[in-house]
Amino acid sequence: MLAGKRILLIVGGGIAAFKSLDLIRRLRERGATVTPVLTKASEEFVTPLSTSALAGQKVYRDLFDLTDEAEMGHIELSRAANLVVVAPATADLMAKMTAGLANDLASTLLMATDKRVLIAPAMNVRMWEHPATQRNLATLQGDGILTVGPDVGDMACGEHGPGRMSEPLAIVDAVEAALADGPLKGKHVLVTSGPTHEPIDPVRYIANRSSGAQGTAIARSLAALGADVTFITGPADVSPPSGVKVVKVQTAREMKDAVDAALPADAAVFAAAVADWRVENASGSKMKKDGSGKAPALEFAENPDILAGVSQLKKGRPKLVVGFAAETDDVEANATAKRKRKGCDWIVANDVSPETGIMGGSENAVSVISDQGTEVWPRLSKDQVAAKLAKRIAGALA
Ligand code: C5P
Repeated sequence: MLAGKRILLIVGGGIAAFKSLDLIRRLRERGATVTPVLTKASEEFVTPLSTSALAGQKVYRDLFDLTDEAEMGHIELSRAANLVVVAPATADLMAKMTAGLANDLASTLLMATDKRVLIAPAMNVRMWEHPATQRNLATLQGDGILTVGPDVGDMACGEHGPGRMSEPLAIVDAVEAALADGPLKGKHVLVTSGPTHEPIDPVRYIANRSSGAQGTAIARSLAALGADVTFITGPADVSPPSGVKVVKVQTAREMKDAVDAALPADAAVFAAAVADWRVENASGSKMKKDGSGKAPALEFAENPDILAGVSQLKKGRPKLVVGFAAETDDVEANATAKRKRKGCDWIVANDVSPETGIMGGSENAVSVISDQGTEVWPRLSKDQVAAKLAKRIAGALA
């Protein structure tokens, strides 16, 4: 429910703007107040009259509208909301946000706000996949901008692929997650997830089979309980959840830097399958067969143990540090020893032997090991494990 919540809805100029009219209705159905802002381009797709009629509010359109400044200045407008939503977020608006431009009302509000911002990108598939847009997306996610979508599907321009704006109800879900008033409200939790890629040369790398599904589900569940989540992910198969701050990394060392930068945190969950070793003599150019039949010798160096490092921090240690132990033999004994060795509070242990289908699968069978002993959980979906773990974390931080 969104009763009493105020949403500032910036409508970008794309064909998906028509869906924003339905989004206004859906948000209002749940009790939110929606203040719409139209860009010049969006007025080519929706009219101020229809937007205002559906919102039951005045529509804001012009930065230099003196009446508006007399009634409510742009700074106040940007801060009176609980959440700023940009739907559709066009490639142009995303680029403006990335660059910090403030040359119209929408971009100025986005610069001036002190509230969280959720964007629902929508554009042609090639524009979405363009390196510039992907670069901008990574920057925005790193800045803490929340994202929902885009979806994959047929597009108004006749092409097919990612770029469709999420459906209004999915955007409403992301709004609810971003504004969740749960037991973790006000708590900052960082989550690592996915595999790491350790380069051998510019085109080859060492990786593992982690899909990132469990870490992603945990981040989503923590956000649903109201946590402010920083989600640090290696190159995973699954998309990051909406409503969290996403930091994308490749290597273990990048993951460590991202974790250090994200601290302090009230709790930290290390669900990533971090490579223990990196190739010390990685080549700067592509390695080639030299015809001698001799294979190159890779030398390995140990990666920093991120979990152990954070667990053993003398200053600024999160109150709760949770590690994972993916084992193939003697799961409980190994995980119990790992908890002691690393110094974390809980270890979530699971058996990743190929016959369990857990690594890369949708289910997990875990035991949670703490100083209170071992709690064996039944085999559950990864979403259920995440929800149960998030609840346990909320209990520990209460
Ligand atoms: O030692 P092992 O890799 O089995 O430990 C697994 C746990 O430690 C996981 O929580 C994983 O995210 C974390 N880890 C880490 N940094 C590493 C290796 C593992 O944070 N270099």
